[in-house]
Amino acid sequence: MEVLIAETYDEMSVRAAAVVGKLIKIKPNAVLGMATGSTPLGLYRELVRLHQDEGLDFAQVTTFNLDEYVGLPNDEPHSYHYFMHEHFFQHVDVPSGNIYIPSGTTSNHAAFCAWYEERIRECGGIDIQILGIGADGHIAFNEPGSSLGSRTRLKTLARQTIEDNARFFERPDDVPVYAITMGVGTILEARAIVMLANGKTKAAAVARAIEGPVTSMITASALQLHPSVRVFLDRDAASELQMNDYWNWVQENRPRQG
Ligand code: PGA
Repeated sequence: MEVLIAETYDEMSVRAAAVVGKLIKIKPNAVLGMATGSTPLGLYRELVRLHQDEGLDFAQVTTFNLDEYVGLPNDEPHSYHYFMHEHFFQHVDVPSGNIYIPSGTTSNHAAFCAWYEERIRECGGIDIQILGIGADGHIAFNEPGSSLGSRTRLKTLARQTIEDNARFFERPDDVPVYAITMGVGTILEARAIVMLANGKTKAAAVARAIEGPVTSMITASALQLHPSVRVFLDRDAASELQMNDYWNWVQENRPRQG
């Protein structure tokens, strides 16, 4: 695991976007795993800037989103379909047929989830998965206690997640209780993973995910089992890491690519 600590949210976002942009330049038909929430907004802003100012081309890119609330139509402003359109897809040139987001309105959850997993495989697997982390250590909507081998499925959200996400809704009761989410096992099959976290509210979860034991109680800790993970943090999110000196030392002394 590589841990990169930036001074600010913007610096963190730009550095993470550079990794995604570099992949797309090397592999124009890359398959990207997308995340929603406040964390990746800066990363999407920077990818849009790279597209508009520097010609980063998404015309052959395919995307798979991590999750979606159950019960919200695609055009509902709180849905992740809407979020992705607003903050990313309307600004870049990913063909609409290459965009996959779990359906919040399917009547057959099991069949949809099996199809989603199959589509990821048919598209060659995810090259790089973007992740945030919840204050309870979740990745996607894999709440504490989720199997570390879990696949895409219907999931009941934890109370804390509902409370955390209530800020986006008018009333706490409006937050959906269910979501369709990629599983931890699905996420671990991505070839590379970029996880971002900013702010003090994430510091404890980040420390447990990176430096604590691997446990289903902090599903982000499963990333320790993955061979290619880069974690981008701002100073606040990094503030509870015990090995801060070490993570910085490694960054300052990265071996030259030979
Ligand atoms: P946030 O959510 O980016 O809105 O903080 C992250 C997450 O819950 O994965």
